[in-house]
Amino acid sequence: MDTILNFLGNITWWMWILIVLVVIAIRDIIQKKHIIIHNYPVIGHIRYMFESIGPEIRQYFVANNREELPFNRIERGWIYASAKKQNNYEGFGTDRDIYAHQHIFINNAMMPYQVGENHPNSIDKTFLPCAKIMGEFNKRKRPYRPASVINISAMSFGSLSAKAVESMNKGVKMADAYHNTGEGGLSPYHRNGGDVVFHFGTGYFGVRAEDGGFSMEKMIKLVEDNPFIRAIEVKLSQGAKPGKGGVLPGEKISKEIAEIRGVEVGKDVLSPPNHKAFSNVPELIEFIEKIAEATGLPVGIKAAIGKLDQWEELADIMKTTGKGPDFITVDGGEGGTGAAPPSFADHVSLPWVYGFADLYRLFQDKGLSERIVFIGSGKLGFPAKAAMAFAMGVDCINVAREAMMSIGCIQAKVCHTNRCPTGIATQSKWLQNGIDPTLKSARLAQYFKTFRKEFIEVTHAAGHEHPCQFTMEDIEVNVDDHNLSKELKSTYMYEKTIVPFKDMQTLKDCMYLGGKATSQS
Ligand SMILES: Cc1cc2nc3c(=O)[nH]c(=O)nc-3n(C[C@H](O)[C@H](O)[C@H](O)COP(=O)(O)O)c2cc1C
Repeated sequence: MDTILNFLGNITWWMWILIVLVVIAIRDIIQKKHIIIHNYPVIGHIRYMFESIGPEIRQYFVANNREELPFNRIERGWIYASAKKQNNYEGFGTDRDIYAHQHIFINNAMMPYQVGENHPNSIDKTFLPCAKIMGEFNKRKRPYRPASVINISAMSFGSLSAKAVESMNKGVKMADAYHNTGEGGLSPYHRNGGDVVFHFGTGYFGVRAEDGGFSMEKMIKLVEDNPFIRAIEVKLSQGAKPGKGGVLPGEKISKEIAEIRGVEVGKDVLSPPNHKAFSNVPELIEFIEKIAEATGLPVGIKAAIGKLDQWEELADIMKTTGKGPDFITVDGGEGGTGAAPPSFADHVSLPWVYGFADLYRLFQDKGLSERIVFIGSGKLGFPAKAAMAFAMGVDCINVAREAMMSIGCIQAKVCHTNRCPTGIATQSKWLQNGIDPTLKSARLAQYFKTFRKEFIEVTHAAGHEHPCQFTMEDIEVNVDDHNLSKELKSTYMYEKTIVPFKDMQTLKDCMYLGGKATSQS
């Protein structure tokens, strides 16, 4: 034994390094999984190391300010600074090529809108409610005027961590906005005082019957037990993966998730591409009406847009029966997701501007645009983008990834791996520990408030009091020369229906603002 220890003790440090390298080289040559490592033992590992840190190197050192996708450094920086109430201005002028194709111009008025002394925006520079009321046309029992034009888009507890959901819910309470639950059901983390839009897809999580279908009983009980649920959204599809079902693997189904989603612990759960509760457009309308009747809440649908024939059928039935969704959320093909195959995320469904323009025009042609609250989502959480969306006809925007960034997401793009380094899109308790919901909720609220303040200022610059007054003539998109640049109206071939709007004071005095009253009270 002593001889062996003596022999080992006499081996110098550089010989140890050599021995380790020889062992690695032998292992590399024997293995057949990686050709590069087999053909170039030891040094072949450097290639894999560079590949793994490449995204970070590009993000932090190489990519220019406007280069990255989905959100470039300037966009992320604007959200971070806005959320922290730091200086979010630019110095020296724009660093964007404003002659570039598809650049958005907002046509400013010669003299901006003047805010009077007692105007709601003199008192609160961030007061910006929705100009339309969800459920008003269909005379639902509990109509809802969202008190903020910017709100949190569908993201489930499951795709987001408990601490992230809690931060967001506390944040929307501070910002008078609403929080869409996403497909994972209503979790305890959604019960922190913020308004909630309950969202479900083909898995019916939270309102799931024994057979995996929809349970109206559970829906009614959920709404009765949780009066802060202001509206219900039926998911038909989302921009990142329309028509793609999913499996929630049994090992991810903890006791807590099983309880919230209404499924069994440890057993795989299928979210099929299609709904069980309806299989065609007339059945969808009946389904919406039944839920609205049973709960008294406005009911809407969320979808990404591609073909229009079934939408046309929906519009025709809505016109003849006077029934149908109270709101429609149009998601863009550029929309985010917890996880999706690239073939879907990159290619299935239209980008937001194309999809929304097609859909809005269709409903407008049938005379239906006034009775629907249109919500847009797909990288719209920036005032200029929102101005364009409002000019095209939206009444509210939903933001998902922008909300994540406001609470600390660094766009690591690993939501699908459960290894989110910021603890936002993971179920790892260790990674979530860094999130302080008190601080992060304040950040989300501040992002929403800064967004609204800047959006109001842009609106005033264009000579309007409220963004609902933006028309297609207010915005131009660049097609390389001013004589060629086209107003939205001629680019997308429609003119938005005028939204009835008296003034901000009327919105402030509205009994349905923030869903605080029922139609009977
Ligand atoms: C982590 C994550 C989870 C999401 N979960 C859902 C979901 O459950 N249901 C849904 O309809 N959309 C879901 N989405 C899509 C968003 O609600 C939104 O429509 C899309 O990301 C576009 O908005 P954005 O560009 O502001 O992120 C999710 C997005 C992300 C990033």
